[in-house]
Amino acid sequence: MSRNFRHWPLHQKVVLMPAHHLRVGKYTLSGTEDFFDPAFAIQHNDGNLTSVLYYVSHNTKNIDSNVTQTTVVMKDDVYPLEVKLCYISYVKENIIKTWTEIVHQEKKPVTINRYASSMLYFEAPKYYLTEFSGDWAKEVNMSNQQLQFGKKIIDSKLGSRAAMYAQPFFQLGLGQPVQEGQGTVMLGTIGWTGNFQFTFEIDNASNLRVISGINPFLSNYELKPNEVFTTPEFIFTISEEGTGKASRNFHSWARDYQLKDGKGDRLTLLNNWEATYFGFDEPKLEELMKDAKNLGVDMFLLDDGWFANKYPRNSDKQGLGDWDVTKEKLPNGVPHLVKAAKDAGVKFGIWIEPEMVNPKSELFEKHPEWAIHLPNRERYYYRNQLVLDLSNPKVQDYVFEVVDKLMIENPEIAFFKWDCNSPITNVYSFYLKDKQNNLYVDHVRGVYNVFKRVNEKYPNIPMMLCSGGGGRCDYEALKYFTEFWCSDNTDPIERIFIQWGFSQFFPSKAMDAHVTSWNSRTSVKFRTDVAFMCKLGFDIRLNEMKEDDLKYCQNAVANYNRLKKVILDGDLYRLVSPYESNHMSVMHVSPAKDKAVLYAYDVYPRYSEKLYPVKLQGLDPAKMYKVEEINLMPNQNSGLKANGKVFSGDFLMKAGLDVFTTRQANSRIIEITAQ
Ligand code: GLA
Repeated sequence: MSRNFRHWPLHQKVVLMPAHHLRVGKYTLSGTEDFFDPAFAIQHNDGNLTSVLYYVSHNTKNIDSNVTQTTVVMKDDVYPLEVKLCYISYVKENIIKTWTEIVHQEKKPVTINRYASSMLYFEAPKYYLTEFSGDWAKEVNMSNQQLQFGKKIIDSKLGSRAAMYAQPFFQLGLGQPVQEGQGTVMLGTIGWTGNFQFTFEIDNASNLRVISGINPFLSNYELKPNEVFTTPEFIFTISEEGTGKASRNFHSWARDYQLKDGKGDRLTLLNNWEATYFGFDEPKLEELMKDAKNLGVDMFLLDDGWFANKYPRNSDKQGLGDWDVTKEKLPNGVPHLVKAAKDAGVKFGIWIEPEMVNPKSELFEKHPEWAIHLPNRERYYYRNQLVLDLSNPKVQDYVFEVVDKLMIENPEIAFFKWDCNSPITNVYSFYLKDKQNNLYVDHVRGVYNVFKRVNEKYPNIPMMLCSGGGGRCDYEALKYFTEFWCSDNTDPIERIFIQWGFSQFFPSKAMDAHVTSWNSRTSVKFRTDVAFMCKLGFDIRLNEMKEDDLKYCQNAVANYNRLKKVILDGDLYRLVSPYESNHMSVMHVSPAKDKAVLYAYDVYPRYSEKLYPVKLQGLDPAKMYKVEEINLMPNQNSGLKANGKVFSGDFLMKAGLDVFTTRQANSRIIEITAQ
């Protein structure tokens, strides 16, 4: 023990950015003189549990005029161990992406017990944390707390996704609680589609340490000599103008640098999941394809239930793993469906969940050892399925081939919805044998190998990331996916909160929102207007819709197509929070400030509640703008006093518009056009 308490040189400190609260980036070690949570911990071949890293060198290179990469090299003076701290900074967006690379040349593998992506060190009089928590169908609930001495940990242990109970991002208010329009805030998120951990610790000097990385839970990782352990990327920004600005930083960075096809267009769609569940056949799908065309969307998306023959996928209890089309249900196969969609005049997309297996499947009968499960205990199932062991390269090949075979047979498939419904429930890999500690990490790396291969071969195909709702919502997976499914909960009232929450980090074009029958006490218009602020889709029986509702939807889709550029690529201003009022309002503004879309939702106003005008943001004060309410029901007159009138940007931002009402679940979409 005494060895751990000897005085060692100070840990290396790295100056990161000139934000005045962020003092230094550190990479603290364990077992020496720092008595707080470490960023790094190791066990060497001789059993020694310490490492002291000394600065060796650093270099900075410009990737382009906006992007710079800095690498700091540190070495242990006693053991052949090197740790590199890597930073990519995006100047215009004020975003830093940071990760760590660890390598050693000891004779045998070492065990790394902690391997954070980053540690940041803040100095402020007070620290406030906003966290995002929830569960299936109630994602991203935002709550705030002041941090006090000691530790607060946000983490997940789900294995095959980052999120369910906690989302992999957070906000910090430095000196004061996080606010939308003012104050110093930091927004951070980890790009890791697996177990993550954020540790917030206020130390003896009242400074705050934020350690971000893979959750080391059950993952004392065995690292071979010369193998580079690259941690996931931790991505953050600091804003002196509150979270609004910080979110816009994230959105433009994501569109320009991180999202698959970040600058490209997105397809509106009609999905059949809630319209049919597993109960469909060819004629029914053909009907829906025609409905999609009639609605005006770009694509028909076929969901779960189209595959497996020995155990046809007629429920979620069987068939996962057997990716041959169910002959009885769809005798002419996927090619026929692709053609039928084409004949109807829409594109064709398809749902897959290739990383999972139902024990009742031919795949499991043939390869039980491909599934992660315990050989000597009763199995526990989540949604009747098991997770395939992606640490095994053969399983990676198999998963890749699910997509590859579909694409080879049907080159005109235009979209994939890639689902992943089960967390890892019985953690044991038949492939890794005595290296079980590497499973959580190697599994996720295997998932990325597959994502990479798919994207290398099919770089232009848009894909939706889905995980029993919004379980996969991280910026590493989004390198390979154009968008993600925010939640299975499409009740528009709930969606207002969910979309508000995800918008803190993700641009609208990455957030899929569908109009469904959830909370059908609200109008179709309200449900559609709520989905309108994200990437719009429909998952509803159009043939049962009232004529006026259908007409309204067709008109809304046409408006959406016309305004897509602003909605998907504009700057987002969050104007009125549903957490602080009975309403919600946000707006998108085009970069040229010549077009904006304003969204106003009355959630549950009180009787005779006093209503205040909403002050717009992001416009040009000197420009004149015409205000027009759109997405009206057939024969509905706009009740908006300002409708059809022209105002200066200055007026709209200082005096605002009366957009709210005291009607429950009421909405207004307002188009604002520079004259
Ligand atoms: C998950 C998804 C749904 C749907 C079903 C199909 O729950 O979130 O949208 O695709 O799987 O089984």
